[in-house]
Amino acid sequence: MALLFFLALLFGASYAQLTETFYDQTCPRLPNIVRQEVKRAIETDIRAGAKLIRFHFHDCFVQGCDGSVLLEDAPGIDSELNGLGNLGIQGLEIVDAIKAAVESECPGVVSCADVLALAAKQSVDVQGGPSWRVLFGRRDSRTANRTGADELPSPFETLEPLKQKFEALGLDSTDLVALSGNFSGALG
Ligand SMILES: *[C@@H]1O[C@H](CO)[C@@H](O)[C@H](O)[C@H]1NC(C)=O
Ligand SMILES: *[C@@H]1O[C@H](CO)[C@@H](O)[C@H](O)[C@H]1NC(C)=O
Repeated sequence: MALLFFLALLFGASYAQLTETFYDQTCPRLPNIVRQEVKRAIETDIRAGAKLIRFHFHDCFVQGCDGSVLLEDAPGIDSELNGLGNLGIQGLEIVDAIKAAVESECPGVVSCADVLALAAKQSVDVQGGPSWRVLFGRRDSRTANRTGADELPSPFETLEPLKQKFEALGLDSTDLVALSGNFSGALG
């Protein structure tokens, strides 16, 4: 519950201009599309939900919830996926499948950052957890910050540096525990 509250708070409140209805006209079935893909992923991989939550978390922790975590190496882009904090990250193929399903119905409409935010929520939702409102309208970044990804909270850090990293984003110890959760659960 703390996790959900935290996600809603951090990943919602800092974007005052976002709205729940952003895609109502342009992609009205978005929640259903993502939900169906998340369900499909969890059916074949019990850890898929944890992987998707972690993707959203790692996206948001580095320069905000802007999809930057998904940018691969390119001229001018040092991918966050290669950052120390993302060495064990899994589930990119699940994100790709969800995004492809969204694109096939609503081409060029929904940002990757919004897909990650919705996929995290649906991951909890379809597994019977409590729900939260996801606001939409995030723009995808054209830049990545590899240093930020190197400095993501690590399971090998001690408490004080971890607390500082969360505090820097307005998050407290409850949020830290909720989001750090169970690394072995996410990594298998
Ligand atoms: C990248 O992230 C690091 C660590 O959070 C930060 O110090 C730096 O200012 C960021 N760089 C840019 C260009 O935003
Ligand atoms: C963490 O995840 C592992 C692997 O899924 C599981 O065996 C363990 O019970 C979990 N621990 C907690 C505290 O949830």
